[in-house]
Amino acid sequence: MKGIVNRLAESGFLSYDDFLALKYCDDNEDIEYLFSKSREQAKKYYGNKIFIRGLIEFTNHCKNDCLYCGIRASNRKLNRYRLSEEEIIDCCKSGYSLGFRTFVLQGGEDMYFSDDDYVRIISRIKSNYPDCAVTLSIGERSRQSYEKYYNAGADRYLLRHETADKAHYKRLHPEIMSFENRMRCIRDLKDIGYQTGIGFMVGSPFQSDESIYKDLLFIKETNPHMVGIGPFIPHRDTPFAEFARGSCNLTLRLLAIIRLMLPSVLLPATTALGTIDERGREKGILAGANVVMPNLSPVMHRKDYSLYDNKICTGEEAAECRFCLSRRIESIGYEIVTDRGDYKVS
Ligand code: SAM
Ligand code: FES
Repeated sequence: MKGIVNRLAESGFLSYDDFLALKYCDDNEDIEYLFSKSREQAKKYYGNKIFIRGLIEFTNHCKNDCLYCGIRASNRKLNRYRLSEEEIIDCCKSGYSLGFRTFVLQGGEDMYFSDDDYVRIISRIKSNYPDCAVTLSIGERSRQSYEKYYNAGADRYLLRHETADKAHYKRLHPEIMSFENRMRCIRDLKDIGYQTGIGFMVGSPFQSDESIYKDLLFIKETNPHMVGIGPFIPHRDTPFAEFARGSCNLTLRLLAIIRLMLPSVLLPATTALGTIDERGREKGILAGANVVMPNLSPVMHRKDYSLYDNKICTGEEAAECRFCLSRRIESIGYEIVTDRGDYKVS
């Protein structure tokens, strides 16, 4: 097994057989070796620094109906909210004083916000905090819209591809959503100049070994700046309520594999990973992740941004989340830094 890990670390490539060997390996020492190589790569580029991104979940309205997602349009049980522009700016203000230098605006595909609204919000954040990066995670838009946001100052965009397997994509999304459009969006974002993040859920319904391997190849080929992967966790009011959640062990192995494929990629230890395992985010960092994205949204709305059940940190104020994370990260020998945390070219 060590030979496979060394080959991956040296070449950045993984054959399907080697992927299966790593996925099904049950020798703890071998897996610890995988993690140690992955940590070594992360440290080469980022030392023991962990970047934080302030996540502002500004709307849970969504026109889409992704079958896995708790805020899908068909979920009538959800209490819908959207933050006002002033509330968004207030989140940035408190985030800035807590040391955040990246703000991630994430939401459902909420048509209430026009392109002009986004342009105004982005421009305001950038003029109030010129030393900060703005990341958008607001789904599929036209190329023209992406260009407008970029020209207004948005630096980065997160759009998980969800799965690189078209047949699998169709089983996760309603007929009206298209795999081709998701791929078109990712191409446009990279082409426009955003630092672009893609990714997928580990253990989503109907995911096969082949589809995970396709995801890895797609990630390698796309060579994104960021990769967001976290376990699928069922939400009680979705069609996937009865499916099993993804595994922490597999998520950690995939984080390590992705780090070795793309040594300098920005790789978050996600909230979903922290939800299925009390020390999931720490374990993620020890498997090669170098980013965490604590919540800056107002506490009163947090439980309504429920993508999946039992999400953590829904009762904590931003400051509590920030300090809790610092303690957790220091306990494993890493430190949170006040930094935009840009991508480093490898
Ligand atoms: N609307 C934007 C988009 O589609 O990219 C951003 C918001 S969307 C809720 C952000 C991500 O949450 C999705 O890309 C998906 O991978 C993840 N997600 C949704 N439901 C989930 C679930 N049940 N378990 C884990 N992750 C989930
Ligand atoms: Fe729209 Fe999940 S279905 S954000």
